[in-house]
Amino acid sequence: MIKVGIVGGTGYTGSELARLVLAHPALELACITSRQDAGQPVASQWPQFAARSELRFSAPDPATLTACDLVFFATPHGTAMAMAPGLLEAGVKVVDLSADFRLRSIPEFERWYGMPHTAAELLEEAVYGLPELNRERIRRARLVACPGCYPTATILGFAPLLEHGLLDPRTLVADAKSGVSGAGRKLAMGVLYGEVAENFKAYGVDGHRHLPEIAQVLAECAGAPLGLCFVPHLLPMFRGLQATLYATVTRDPGDLVRLFRERYADHPFIFVHDADGVPETRAVRGSNACHIGLRYFPEQGRVVVFSVIDNLVKGAAGQALQNANLMCGLAEDAGLPGDPFFP
Ligand SMILES: NC(=O)c1ccc[n+]([C@@H]2O[C@H](COP(=O)([O-])OP(=O)(O)OC[C@H]3O[C@@H](n4cnc5c(N)ncnc54)[C@H](OP(=O)(O)O)[C@@H]3O)[C@@H](O)[C@H]2O)c1
Repeated sequence: MIKVGIVGGTGYTGSELARLVLAHPALELACITSRQDAGQPVASQWPQFAARSELRFSAPDPATLTACDLVFFATPHGTAMAMAPGLLEAGVKVVDLSADFRLRSIPEFERWYGMPHTAAELLEEAVYGLPELNRERIRRARLVACPGCYPTATILGFAPLLEHGLLDPRTLVADAKSGVSGAGRKLAMGVLYGEVAENFKAYGVDGHRHLPEIAQVLAECAGAPLGLCFVPHLLPMFRGLQATLYATVTRDPGDLVRLFRERYADHPFIFVHDADGVPETRAVRGSNACHIGLRYFPEQGRVVVFSVIDNLVKGAAGQALQNANLMCGLAEDAGLPGDPFFP
């Protein structure tokens, strides 16, 4: 069995990782950390795991983590960059769910995340962990930077069109909505039930941290700088994320469904709806799938793409496990649910 550790085991993505790792045929959960709950049984926070694990949370101690073959960081930005260099030095593979290794420009990282980057020497080596774009590089990687949830849905929806030169790259609009678990398991006024329930609003309108990440990756797909308008919204539900994507085309894009099905033919988690299909979040709840719907409006010269994921699975823990599978030479879909929790 391959021994894995989870740093940040009391958060939402950490618990989702624990759920997936505990059911995985080739991975053993050797260590799961929490500074607040060190010494407590994992079941004290997550009773759903009581029958499958007697593990206790431990402090994020490098000596314990170096006994693992691979460590996931399900922590806020700043933690992985402090610990990854020592783990890599000790021969441990690292999959980071935070933003520490996503942006290649240090000034951009420091501008958006408000802290100095302390492991800049690893940025060139880190592979952006979107298997539908970088599968072969991920297989060879020691350090993978998992994409953010909004970037995952947005990039998967725009990439095939940009790769074929079908979009005017100055006209991209990503109108995106996420369930409240996207904000993490923390005490904050904006994510209280009483604030979120029966409400719907945009946030981060004047600049969201996922904007430079999406722009970096899609500019590479387009081979040109982008004009991207990205507006996230908070949905009154727990899981699920939809990016509705708009852009002006450079020419008639032809059969969009065929284009996307051919692009993702070899990628088991991407499902492209028929031409009249409209994806919905409940169809991906708890699964690692991304569902895509497509429309072309010739009279406006515009395409609309609907890209739907579970933010905690394909947008975080599931994608992290997909990357870990590739890095460990396992089947890409090992231990990953394709089916949703619905109904
Ligand atoms: N939620 C999502 O949908 C989503 C999607 C994609 C990516 N992400 C990214 O994934 C990461 C985790 O997100 P989350 O939503 O799971 O966060 P969360 O619910 O707030 O959990 C954070 C976890 O990190 C631990 N932690 C905090 N500071 C730490 C430190 N300095 N050293 C070690 N452990 C620390 C916390 O436990 P202790 O304080 O007890 O140690 C907790 O277990 C974030 O970077 C987030 O941006 C989240």
